[in-house]
Amino acid sequence: MRRRLVIGNWKMHGSLSGNAALLAQLREGEGVVGHCDIAVCAPFPYLAQVQGVLQSSAVSWGAQDISAHTLGAYTGEVAGTMLDDFACRWVLVGHSERRSMHAEGDQLVADKASAALAVGITPVVCVGETLQERESGRTTDVITRQLAPVMALGAAAVAKVVVAYEPVWAIGTGRTATPQQAQDVHAHIRASLAVLATPDVRVLYGGSVKASNAASLFAMPDIDGALVGGASLAAEEFLRIAAA
Ligand code: 13P
Repeated sequence: MRRRLVIGNWKMHGSLSGNAALLAQLREGEGVVGHCDIAVCAPFPYLAQVQGVLQSSAVSWGAQDISAHTLGAYTGEVAGTMLDDFACRWVLVGHSERRSMHAEGDQLVADKASAALAVGITPVVCVGETLQERESGRTTDVITRQLAPVMALGAAAVAKVVVAYEPVWAIGTGRTATPQQAQDVHAHIRASLAVLATPDVRVLYGGSVKASNAASLFAMPDIDGALVGGASLAAEEFLRIAAA
């Protein structure tokens, strides 16, 4: 049985004072969503703050990136052991903004997933096609290619990951994939994972998820929750998504 999961990706948003208000509201509202896992992925400098407020709450937390390397001379990188010091449970890897703006390739994304697993943190492997790739009928090929190096980590590793399908054209655009469009890709991802006999891997949808469209997305059989960007910055909206 796959337990529902809703993760907020704050991206490069936040401040100590703004986070304090948001986190306090999340703590207050956590009770309404006992049926699913909720988490927030915050910028690195705020992990201590997030940990301080959310520890012993039902809301878990994580980071938005991880180095593929262990400790060493890698200026600007953040190692898995550092994330573990702040009790991160999750880390996003391969978000499309990192793939496109930081030239992260499929193999690096899998290496980052592996680095997370090595310290007991669950990688949330993000995949998704651009509008051009969708319109030229290449969506499933792109997803298959993006997943391949992750699949190569083997069944034991893949059983521990979360996959997030985020069509690039739906991110921050207000243009959500229809529930059926998302379901079609989720079914493809599930079928790909089934080759490794890992039926319980959670597959989240991301891209302009809001309280108003969450329920129709979550009604789809292969959509196990959401990776939420903009709407995770408002506690009430985010909790309404989780309640859906
Ligand atoms: P939006 O929800 O703002 O479209 O962002 C989605 C996303 O990129 C989450 O990782």
